[in-house]
Amino acid sequence: MSDKLIIFDTTLRDGEQSPGASMTRDEKERIAKLLERMRVDVIEAGFPVASPGDFEAVKHVAEVVKDSTVCALARATEKDIDVAAEAVKPAARGRVHTFIATSPVHMREKLRMEPDAVLERAVWAVKRARQYTDDVEFSPEDAGRSEIDFLCRVLEAVIDAGASTVNIPDTVGYNLPQQFGGLIQTLMERVPNSDKVVFSVHCHNDLGLAVANSLAAVTAGARQVECTINGLGERAGNASLEEIVMTVRTRQDMFDCDSNIDTTQIVPSSRLVSGITGFPVQPNKAIVGANAFAHESGIHQDGVIKHRETYEIMRAEDVGWPANRMVLGKHSGRNAFRQRLAELGIEFDTEEDLNSAFSRFKDLADKKHEIFDEDLQALVTEEGLEQASDYIRLVGLKVCSQSGETPLANITLSVDGKEQKADSEGSGPVDAAFRAIENVVESGVELQLYSVSNITSGTDAQGEVTVRLERGGRIVNGHGADTDIVIASTKAYINALNKIVTPVERCHPQTNQPI
Ligand code: KIV
Ligand code: ZN
Repeated sequence: MSDKLIIFDTTLRDGEQSPGASMTRDEKERIAKLLERMRVDVIEAGFPVASPGDFEAVKHVAEVVKDSTVCALARATEKDIDVAAEAVKPAARGRVHTFIATSPVHMREKLRMEPDAVLERAVWAVKRARQYTDDVEFSPEDAGRSEIDFLCRVLEAVIDAGASTVNIPDTVGYNLPQQFGGLIQTLMERVPNSDKVVFSVHCHNDLGLAVANSLAAVTAGARQVECTINGLGERAGNASLEEIVMTVRTRQDMFDCDSNIDTTQIVPSSRLVSGITGFPVQPNKAIVGANAFAHESGIHQDGVIKHRETYEIMRAEDVGWPANRMVLGKHSGRNAFRQRLAELGIEFDTEEDLNSAFSRFKDLADKKHEIFDEDLQALVTEEGLEQASDYIRLVGLKVCSQSGETPLANITLSVDGKEQKADSEGSGPVDAAFRAIENVVESGVELQLYSVSNITSGTDAQGEVTVRLERGGRIVNGHGADTDIVIASTKAYINALNKIVTPVERCHPQTNQPI
């Protein structure tokens, strides 16, 4: 019988550490519920000591998630551990994940601590966390660049102190697959009490090797993989959940373990995370990219039609790609709408939320005759993005764009409840709209990224827009969707502005810098 591979998702923690990807409590709840539906074993919900908002968000996830373990991150300090334990207290199964760096460069330059003091602190941290829960995970940060003898000593000591999972991070994505698999094998052989714990791995993708390194570690005996939806995460990201899960599932001839994941929830989760964080998925991304199952070149298409296995090693429907069919239309009623969303794993807390989403659906169906699953998912994401409490709201937009003329935008915004109007010219209609917004709000932001993609095909498809804004070192992403791409762009810009005008004081768990 094959072993169980534990899937530990850190989209809500390491994923959230990507610039601009911070999530609200409600956004975390929506993602966590979908991860639970996907049967993710452990959901790392955040770093509670970062701010009161972060604490609330982790606590809320711990309250609503019943089937997955909910984990909180803590540095090896009293306050971090106590706050993390408090945040996961309501969970049916709660875990505290504490860490301290063990590589020479981190100990010397960041911690300014001697190795023996680091070892002592690691043991202290695990013991403190064990006062609150039996489920304690310990990570020697930057293990991938740590000295093996010291790493063995630290692991032996934290296992003795009561850690039930030891996680080996390649924090800076420096390792190569053979080397990292070898590291796991050596640790499992040399640490005398290694059989008492689950060995986990946490790989970053700086050299594009996060998935390969994680899989090499699984082959060497690791039984937990830390990963994120769409590979979201610090810098080049973390190992992507969908690639890990589908590789192990597809190549069962090569692995003596498998995860419990319901793979049909992969694409919906990818879309939800991308929609909420504003990080688009590249079209050629494995499993979840728009082209991943599109056999477009003539010769391939012919092969696929004759015999599926010619060019397909997985089935699109097994990872949750919708069967590209019209699901609802102009005449569909509220019940059909509610039922289709329930089939997609989307439920509403109140009748009022359902009514408001249904009224948006009717507006969309007036503009677009065929409504696909992707449209419904985008519509619900939009619904979540616009908060009644938003400081800036779009009241109206008129844009004139004519060949040979400079585009002109007239905008009406509600700012803190007061309507204000402005207009502006621009080099194109989107530029004019953004300038008109700035003539009202004078935010002083810098636009770092603007990207548009279509949600479904056809000229009546909704455009999905992401903007990234920066002010005073703080970065936020905004997201908007509409059949009119100028409106979608305006919504995305306003969504980002609403995030940036809300002051937050949070600290980064690894660099200790404000974010
Ligand atoms: O990359 C890393 O080392 C981490 C640890 C906190 C586990 O994210
Ligand atoms: Zn990390």
